[in-house]
This record gives sequence, structure tokens and C-alpha cells, in this order.
Amino acid sequence: MLRCIIVGYGFLGKRLARLLASGAIGDIKLVGVASSKGYIYKEYGLMPGDLPDDLRFLSILKPSPASELIDKRITDLLVELTPTNIRDGEPGLTHIRLALEQGIDVVTANKGPIALAYEELMGLAEKSGAMLLHEATVGGGIPLISLKNRCLAADELLSIKGILNGTTNYILSRMHFEEMTLELALREAQMLGIAERDPTLDLEGVDTALKLVILANSLMNAGKRLSDVKIMGITRITSEAIAAAKGSGMTIKLIGIADEEGLRVAPKLVRLNDPICVHGTLNAVSFNFRILGRLTIIGEGAGESTVSALLNDIYEVVKARSRSNRI
Ligand code: HSE
Repeated sequence: MLRCIIVGYGFLGKRLARLLASGAIGDIKLVGVASSKGYIYKEYGLMPGDLPDDLRFLSILKPSPASELIDKRITDLLVELTPTNIRDGEPGLTHIRLALEQGIDVVTANKGPIALAYEELMGLAEKSGAMLLHEATVGGGIPLISLKNRCLAADELLSIKGILNGTTNYILSRMHFEEMTLELALREAQMLGIAERDPTLDLEGVDTALKLVILANSLMNAGKRLSDVKIMGITRITSEAIAAAKGSGMTIKLIGIADEEGLRVAPKLVRLNDPICVHGTLNAVSFNFRILGRLTIIGEGAGESTVSALLNDIYEVVKARSRSNRI
């Protein structure tokens, strides 16, 4: 049995913890969960009944930092799900470093550490022989990273273009189809639970830029930083601009592009029949490969679907470790 802990007990953490505790993946034993209030730990495995919405009222809650739980003696796998912090990646960056240094495998949905310190973290993983999987950081449940790394590893990815943020896509779609204001549509997106805790990260294009850096670095070896991305968000998009686009069979979408000219995020006019012109909370990514050519993939980019990406990465770790007889 592979022992697993989850650090971060928000929307994703709660759902994933309950799935793992009820045996969604064989050969995984969830032994610990940490929230900002402390952690719970059971050597023989946590059960769904040990996982209420609020851990504060549990008698087994230890009011200590998550770093205390990240210890090779009690876990083989860390699932890091603390909120994204784009300034310094903390506390997720420290958690991931701590795990990789001890040879503990890591699965994460946390964009901050992966966008800010990809090379360093991959270097740590390589040195200690640990795995670091981050499918859930980009495109929710859409398997963008495994699509390239597993199905198209021999081809060369030349460029990426797409809609990588569900919140702004939802807002722009509501403005296009319902003539709603940006402010009202944002409030709806917040109610759907897909907006960042600080929604200016969505609106100003920073969330899209983070995801573009992650894709470019992990799929194209681009070695880019957030500061390399030219970013323009949607805050200045007016109802009039959307109406004018609509009049000519187009709409406005927030598009991220990574190609030989670099990385950029900006609102663009897109034809309504373009394959990446998806609406609502959907994401769409168009890859251009040297041999395959263009491949577009569409799916839910946030929320519940992200749990699927986490489960699949965890399953990859289980498969790899059972092959190497570590479980
Ligand atoms: N705020 C993000 C989005 C969440 O709207 O796409 C998923 O990364």
C-alpha cells in the first residue's frame, strides 16, 4: 500500500480526500490531511467519516503546520493543494521541496510552485528519484500534459494557442450571448466556484499566463518565467466591443499563445466557427505539432473535473511504484 497525505483541504482537497478514503484507487491509503488549522493523521488510514467539512472540531486534529506531516517515515506521496500564490509560491513551494528532498512523490494542482520553480523542482525530483506530476495545474480535467508526454512524446510541439481560463471565458460568453455586464457575469462565475480567490488574477490574464508558462516549460522546454509573458486581461472589454464583434460573426476571447515569438495573453477576435471558440466555463487548447499538425482539445478547465486529473496522476504514481516494487 502506498501511503498518501493531502495538504490543502479546500474544494479539491475535500473531494479528493473522500474519494481516496472510500477506496477510489486500490493500493492507496490516505493517512493524513492538513488544512490551515492543523492536520489529522491515522497510521492505518482515514475513513470517509474522519473527513467532515471543517477539521477544526475533530479531537484528533493536531494544531501544527503541514510541514510536520510531510515526513518520509509516514508517507510515500504528497498531494499538494494549498491555494496558488503567484508572489513566492508559498506555502506550496516549501511543502513540495520538503517532500521531493526526501524522495516523497508529489502530485499537485498548485500553479504557483510549478510556474515559479519548475526547473528547480524537477531537478530535486530527479536527484531523489521522486515523481512530480502536475496535470491538474492546467486545464482542469483536460489531459493536456499527459496527451503530449504519453501519446505524442516523439513529435515536437511547436506552438500552443488557447483559452485556459474558465472564469473569463464564462464572463465573455455571458456578455456575448446574454448581453450581461462584466461585473454581473463575474459574480456568477464566483458563485460557480471557478474564480480565483482574488478574481483579478483571472480578469487581468495572470491565471492564463501562469498556465501558459507551465505548458511551455513542461511541454516545450521553454525555460520561461511569468515575467516573460506579455499580459493583457479583459477588464477593458466593453459590451459595445462584444456587440461589434458579434455583428461580424466573431466574438472576443482571452487567448494565451506560446510560439517562436514568445508567450503572450490578450483578448482576441475569434471567429465563431473556430475550433477554439468554446463558451461558458470550457477551455480549448490548440496544439501545433511538427508532424501531426494541429490538434485541438476541449473540456472543463476548472472545478470538479480537476479531481479527475489528480486521481489520474495519483494512479500513475501507484502504477510506477508497483512496477518498481516500492509497494
Ligand atoms: N480560476 C481558474 C479558471 C481556475 O477560471 O480557470 C482553474 O485554474
